[in-house]
Amino acid sequence: MSWALMPAAGSGRRFGGEVPKQYLAAAGKPLIAHALGALLAHPAIDGAVVALAADDPHWPGWTSLHGKPVIACLGGLERADSVLAALRALPASVPEDALLLVHDAARPNLRADDIDKLIDAATACADGAILAAPVRDTLKRANAEIRIEATEPRERLWRALTPQGFRRDLLLRALQAARAAGVMVTDEAMAVERLGLHPALVEGREDNLKVTTPADLALVEFLLARQS
Ligand code: C5P
Repeated sequence: MSWALMPAAGSGRRFGGEVPKQYLAAAGKPLIAHALGALLAHPAIDGAVVALAADDPHWPGWTSLHGKPVIACLGGLERADSVLAALRALPASVPEDALLLVHDAARPNLRADDIDKLIDAATACADGAILAAPVRDTLKRANAEIRIEATEPRERLWRALTPQGFRRDLLLRALQAARAAGVMVTDEAMAVERLGLHPALVEGREDNLKVTTPADLALVEFLLARQS
């Protein structure tokens, strides 16, 4: 059994504007509808929990999509708090060893073949797995004056994407430990790494973009329109 968890409680400060970025439209639908739809259309996913901001006026109130349950819950201040809240809102019938796929609401161009690959890897690896893309640019470390201090070797560097897949019991343990230590994690794998574990990296599509800027929105609009 697999469920999706979707943190969607962010305010989208970096994007600017009144509407949080996950509710901006691309190819006729809000980004979150694309992201949630891609997960729930997949035959291996049984349902989804979405973590929302308090009194979110934009949430369309879905209780099911593609014939599968959608549960809404209240998110938290940080991403990890929102994912923890979603974990706690899972139905009791979801077993401890169920695979959970955590996916950003603002990452709308998720394709079924990437979900297949991730599920295979996260099932095979006890430490879980994440979609990721190899770094292609040359990376510079800056000093305090924003002058180049060093060039970082990029051979073993990857960009973390989502979904990220972990067993229910492992994800809960990892996020609770990070919070207890007061460590801010920017993805779920980082919390799992802190336990000394090594989630697998699964090379995913480069166009599984997270919308952070207006330029990203234009790009996903193009990518999504091309598919429909
Ligand atoms: O801000 P960022 O792009 O990293 O957000 C990634 C995802 O985490 C978004 O879907 C956002 O809504 C979600 N998030 C959340 N709760 C927060 C902060 C971010 O659910 N407190």
